[in-house]
Amino acid sequence: MHARGYLSAGGFKIAAVADLIPDRRRQLMAEHQIPCEYAEAEHLLADREIDAVSVCLPNHLHAPVVLAALRAGKHVICEQPPAISPTEARRMADAAAKHNKILLYAAQRRFGGHEQAAKLAITKGFAGDVYHVRCVWTRTRGIPLGTGWFTHKEKSGGGALLDMGAQMLDLAWFLLGQPKPTAAFGIAYRRFPQLVPQPIPFDVDDQAFAILRFENAKSIELAVSWAINQPQQQNGTACRVYGSTGAIEVYTPKGAVLYRDFKPSGQCKENPLKPPRTTHHPALMRHFRDCIAARATPLPGGPEGLTLMQMLHAIYQSNDLGRSVSI
Ligand SMILES: NC(=O)c1ccc[n+]([C@@H]2O[C@H](COP(=O)([O-])OP(=O)(O)OC[C@H]3O[C@@H](n4cnc5c(N)ncnc54)[C@H](O)[C@@H]3O)[C@@H](O)[C@H]2O)c1
Repeated sequence: MHARGYLSAGGFKIAAVADLIPDRRRQLMAEHQIPCEYAEAEHLLADREIDAVSVCLPNHLHAPVVLAALRAGKHVICEQPPAISPTEARRMADAAAKHNKILLYAAQRRFGGHEQAAKLAITKGFAGDVYHVRCVWTRTRGIPLGTGWFTHKEKSGGGALLDMGAQMLDLAWFLLGQPKPTAAFGIAYRRFPQLVPQPIPFDVDDQAFAILRFENAKSIELAVSWAINQPQQQNGTACRVYGSTGAIEVYTPKGAVLYRDFKPSGQCKENPLKPPRTTHHPALMRHFRDCIAARATPLPGGPEGLTLMQMLHAIYQSNDLGRSVSI
């Protein structure tokens, strides 16, 4: 998806790919006419011809590889979640500032068509003062295994909350205007150990639920699952935005929909919102290009990645302590 995004955005030439698995890198080389290959990420970083890199590695490698890339003078797009801890995310933000390089997180949900349309409507004030977002991403069955690290806390940093929660929470926080978080109350479960084949370790959550409070009386409700007992029609995403004069439903078959002109009875008008022309990874890579050219500020960049990790960490802490925790 990154490779396709670069080529579609324009202004990039894909110079090389690194992956420990030869078949994986060769497939990418063939698909996108990439001339050069490395096995180890660190060898690619030593290539002086390369100006910018996408880091799409298991979560525990994000911080070390991003730090090495920034030290080597490269701009970076790093996959979500930013890191496996707030401490790592802080180091990454500090390093980008120190080396004066772009660090952009691949928060692809911010760049989707429905999501961009919703954000534009909110920015124009069509829903009034937006104060609450309810976001849900529940898979009925779908524990990711990847190359065996997703369910292993040491390498993933967490389960469904860190994997799907990072993306939904980032979207909800973005739609809310990125207010400062103050507290979190959360609970996480591991209910489906039988779905992970032995001997793959499984010591993380497969479901998590949370409520977060923010400055200026704003809030987010979050629910995510890799696996949960729900009918198949509940499999998927929901994101509902509540404002003082209107509401937005981000995911509907008609695209994002704005509801406004509420009557005392609760009746309202429904306005489907038009998505922009460039969406998803091409929009993400176009933003990366604009950041490199100093025409834009990375969003979400190092500081936003840190806040996101602090929120996720607070939800896990709240689960462990059985009470709400300050952020
Ligand atoms: N934004 C999204 O929708 C989305 C979707 C899937 C995954 N992700 C994120 O992307 C990242 C990767 O996930 P995935 O599903 O591709 O995992 P994966 O396990 O399928 O792939 C990881 C790859 O990294 C390679 N690798 C590991 N160490 C390496 C090293 N030192 N040098 C070179 N290559 C190395 C492995 O060979 C493997 O091919 C994760 O952070 C995940 O959370 C994001």
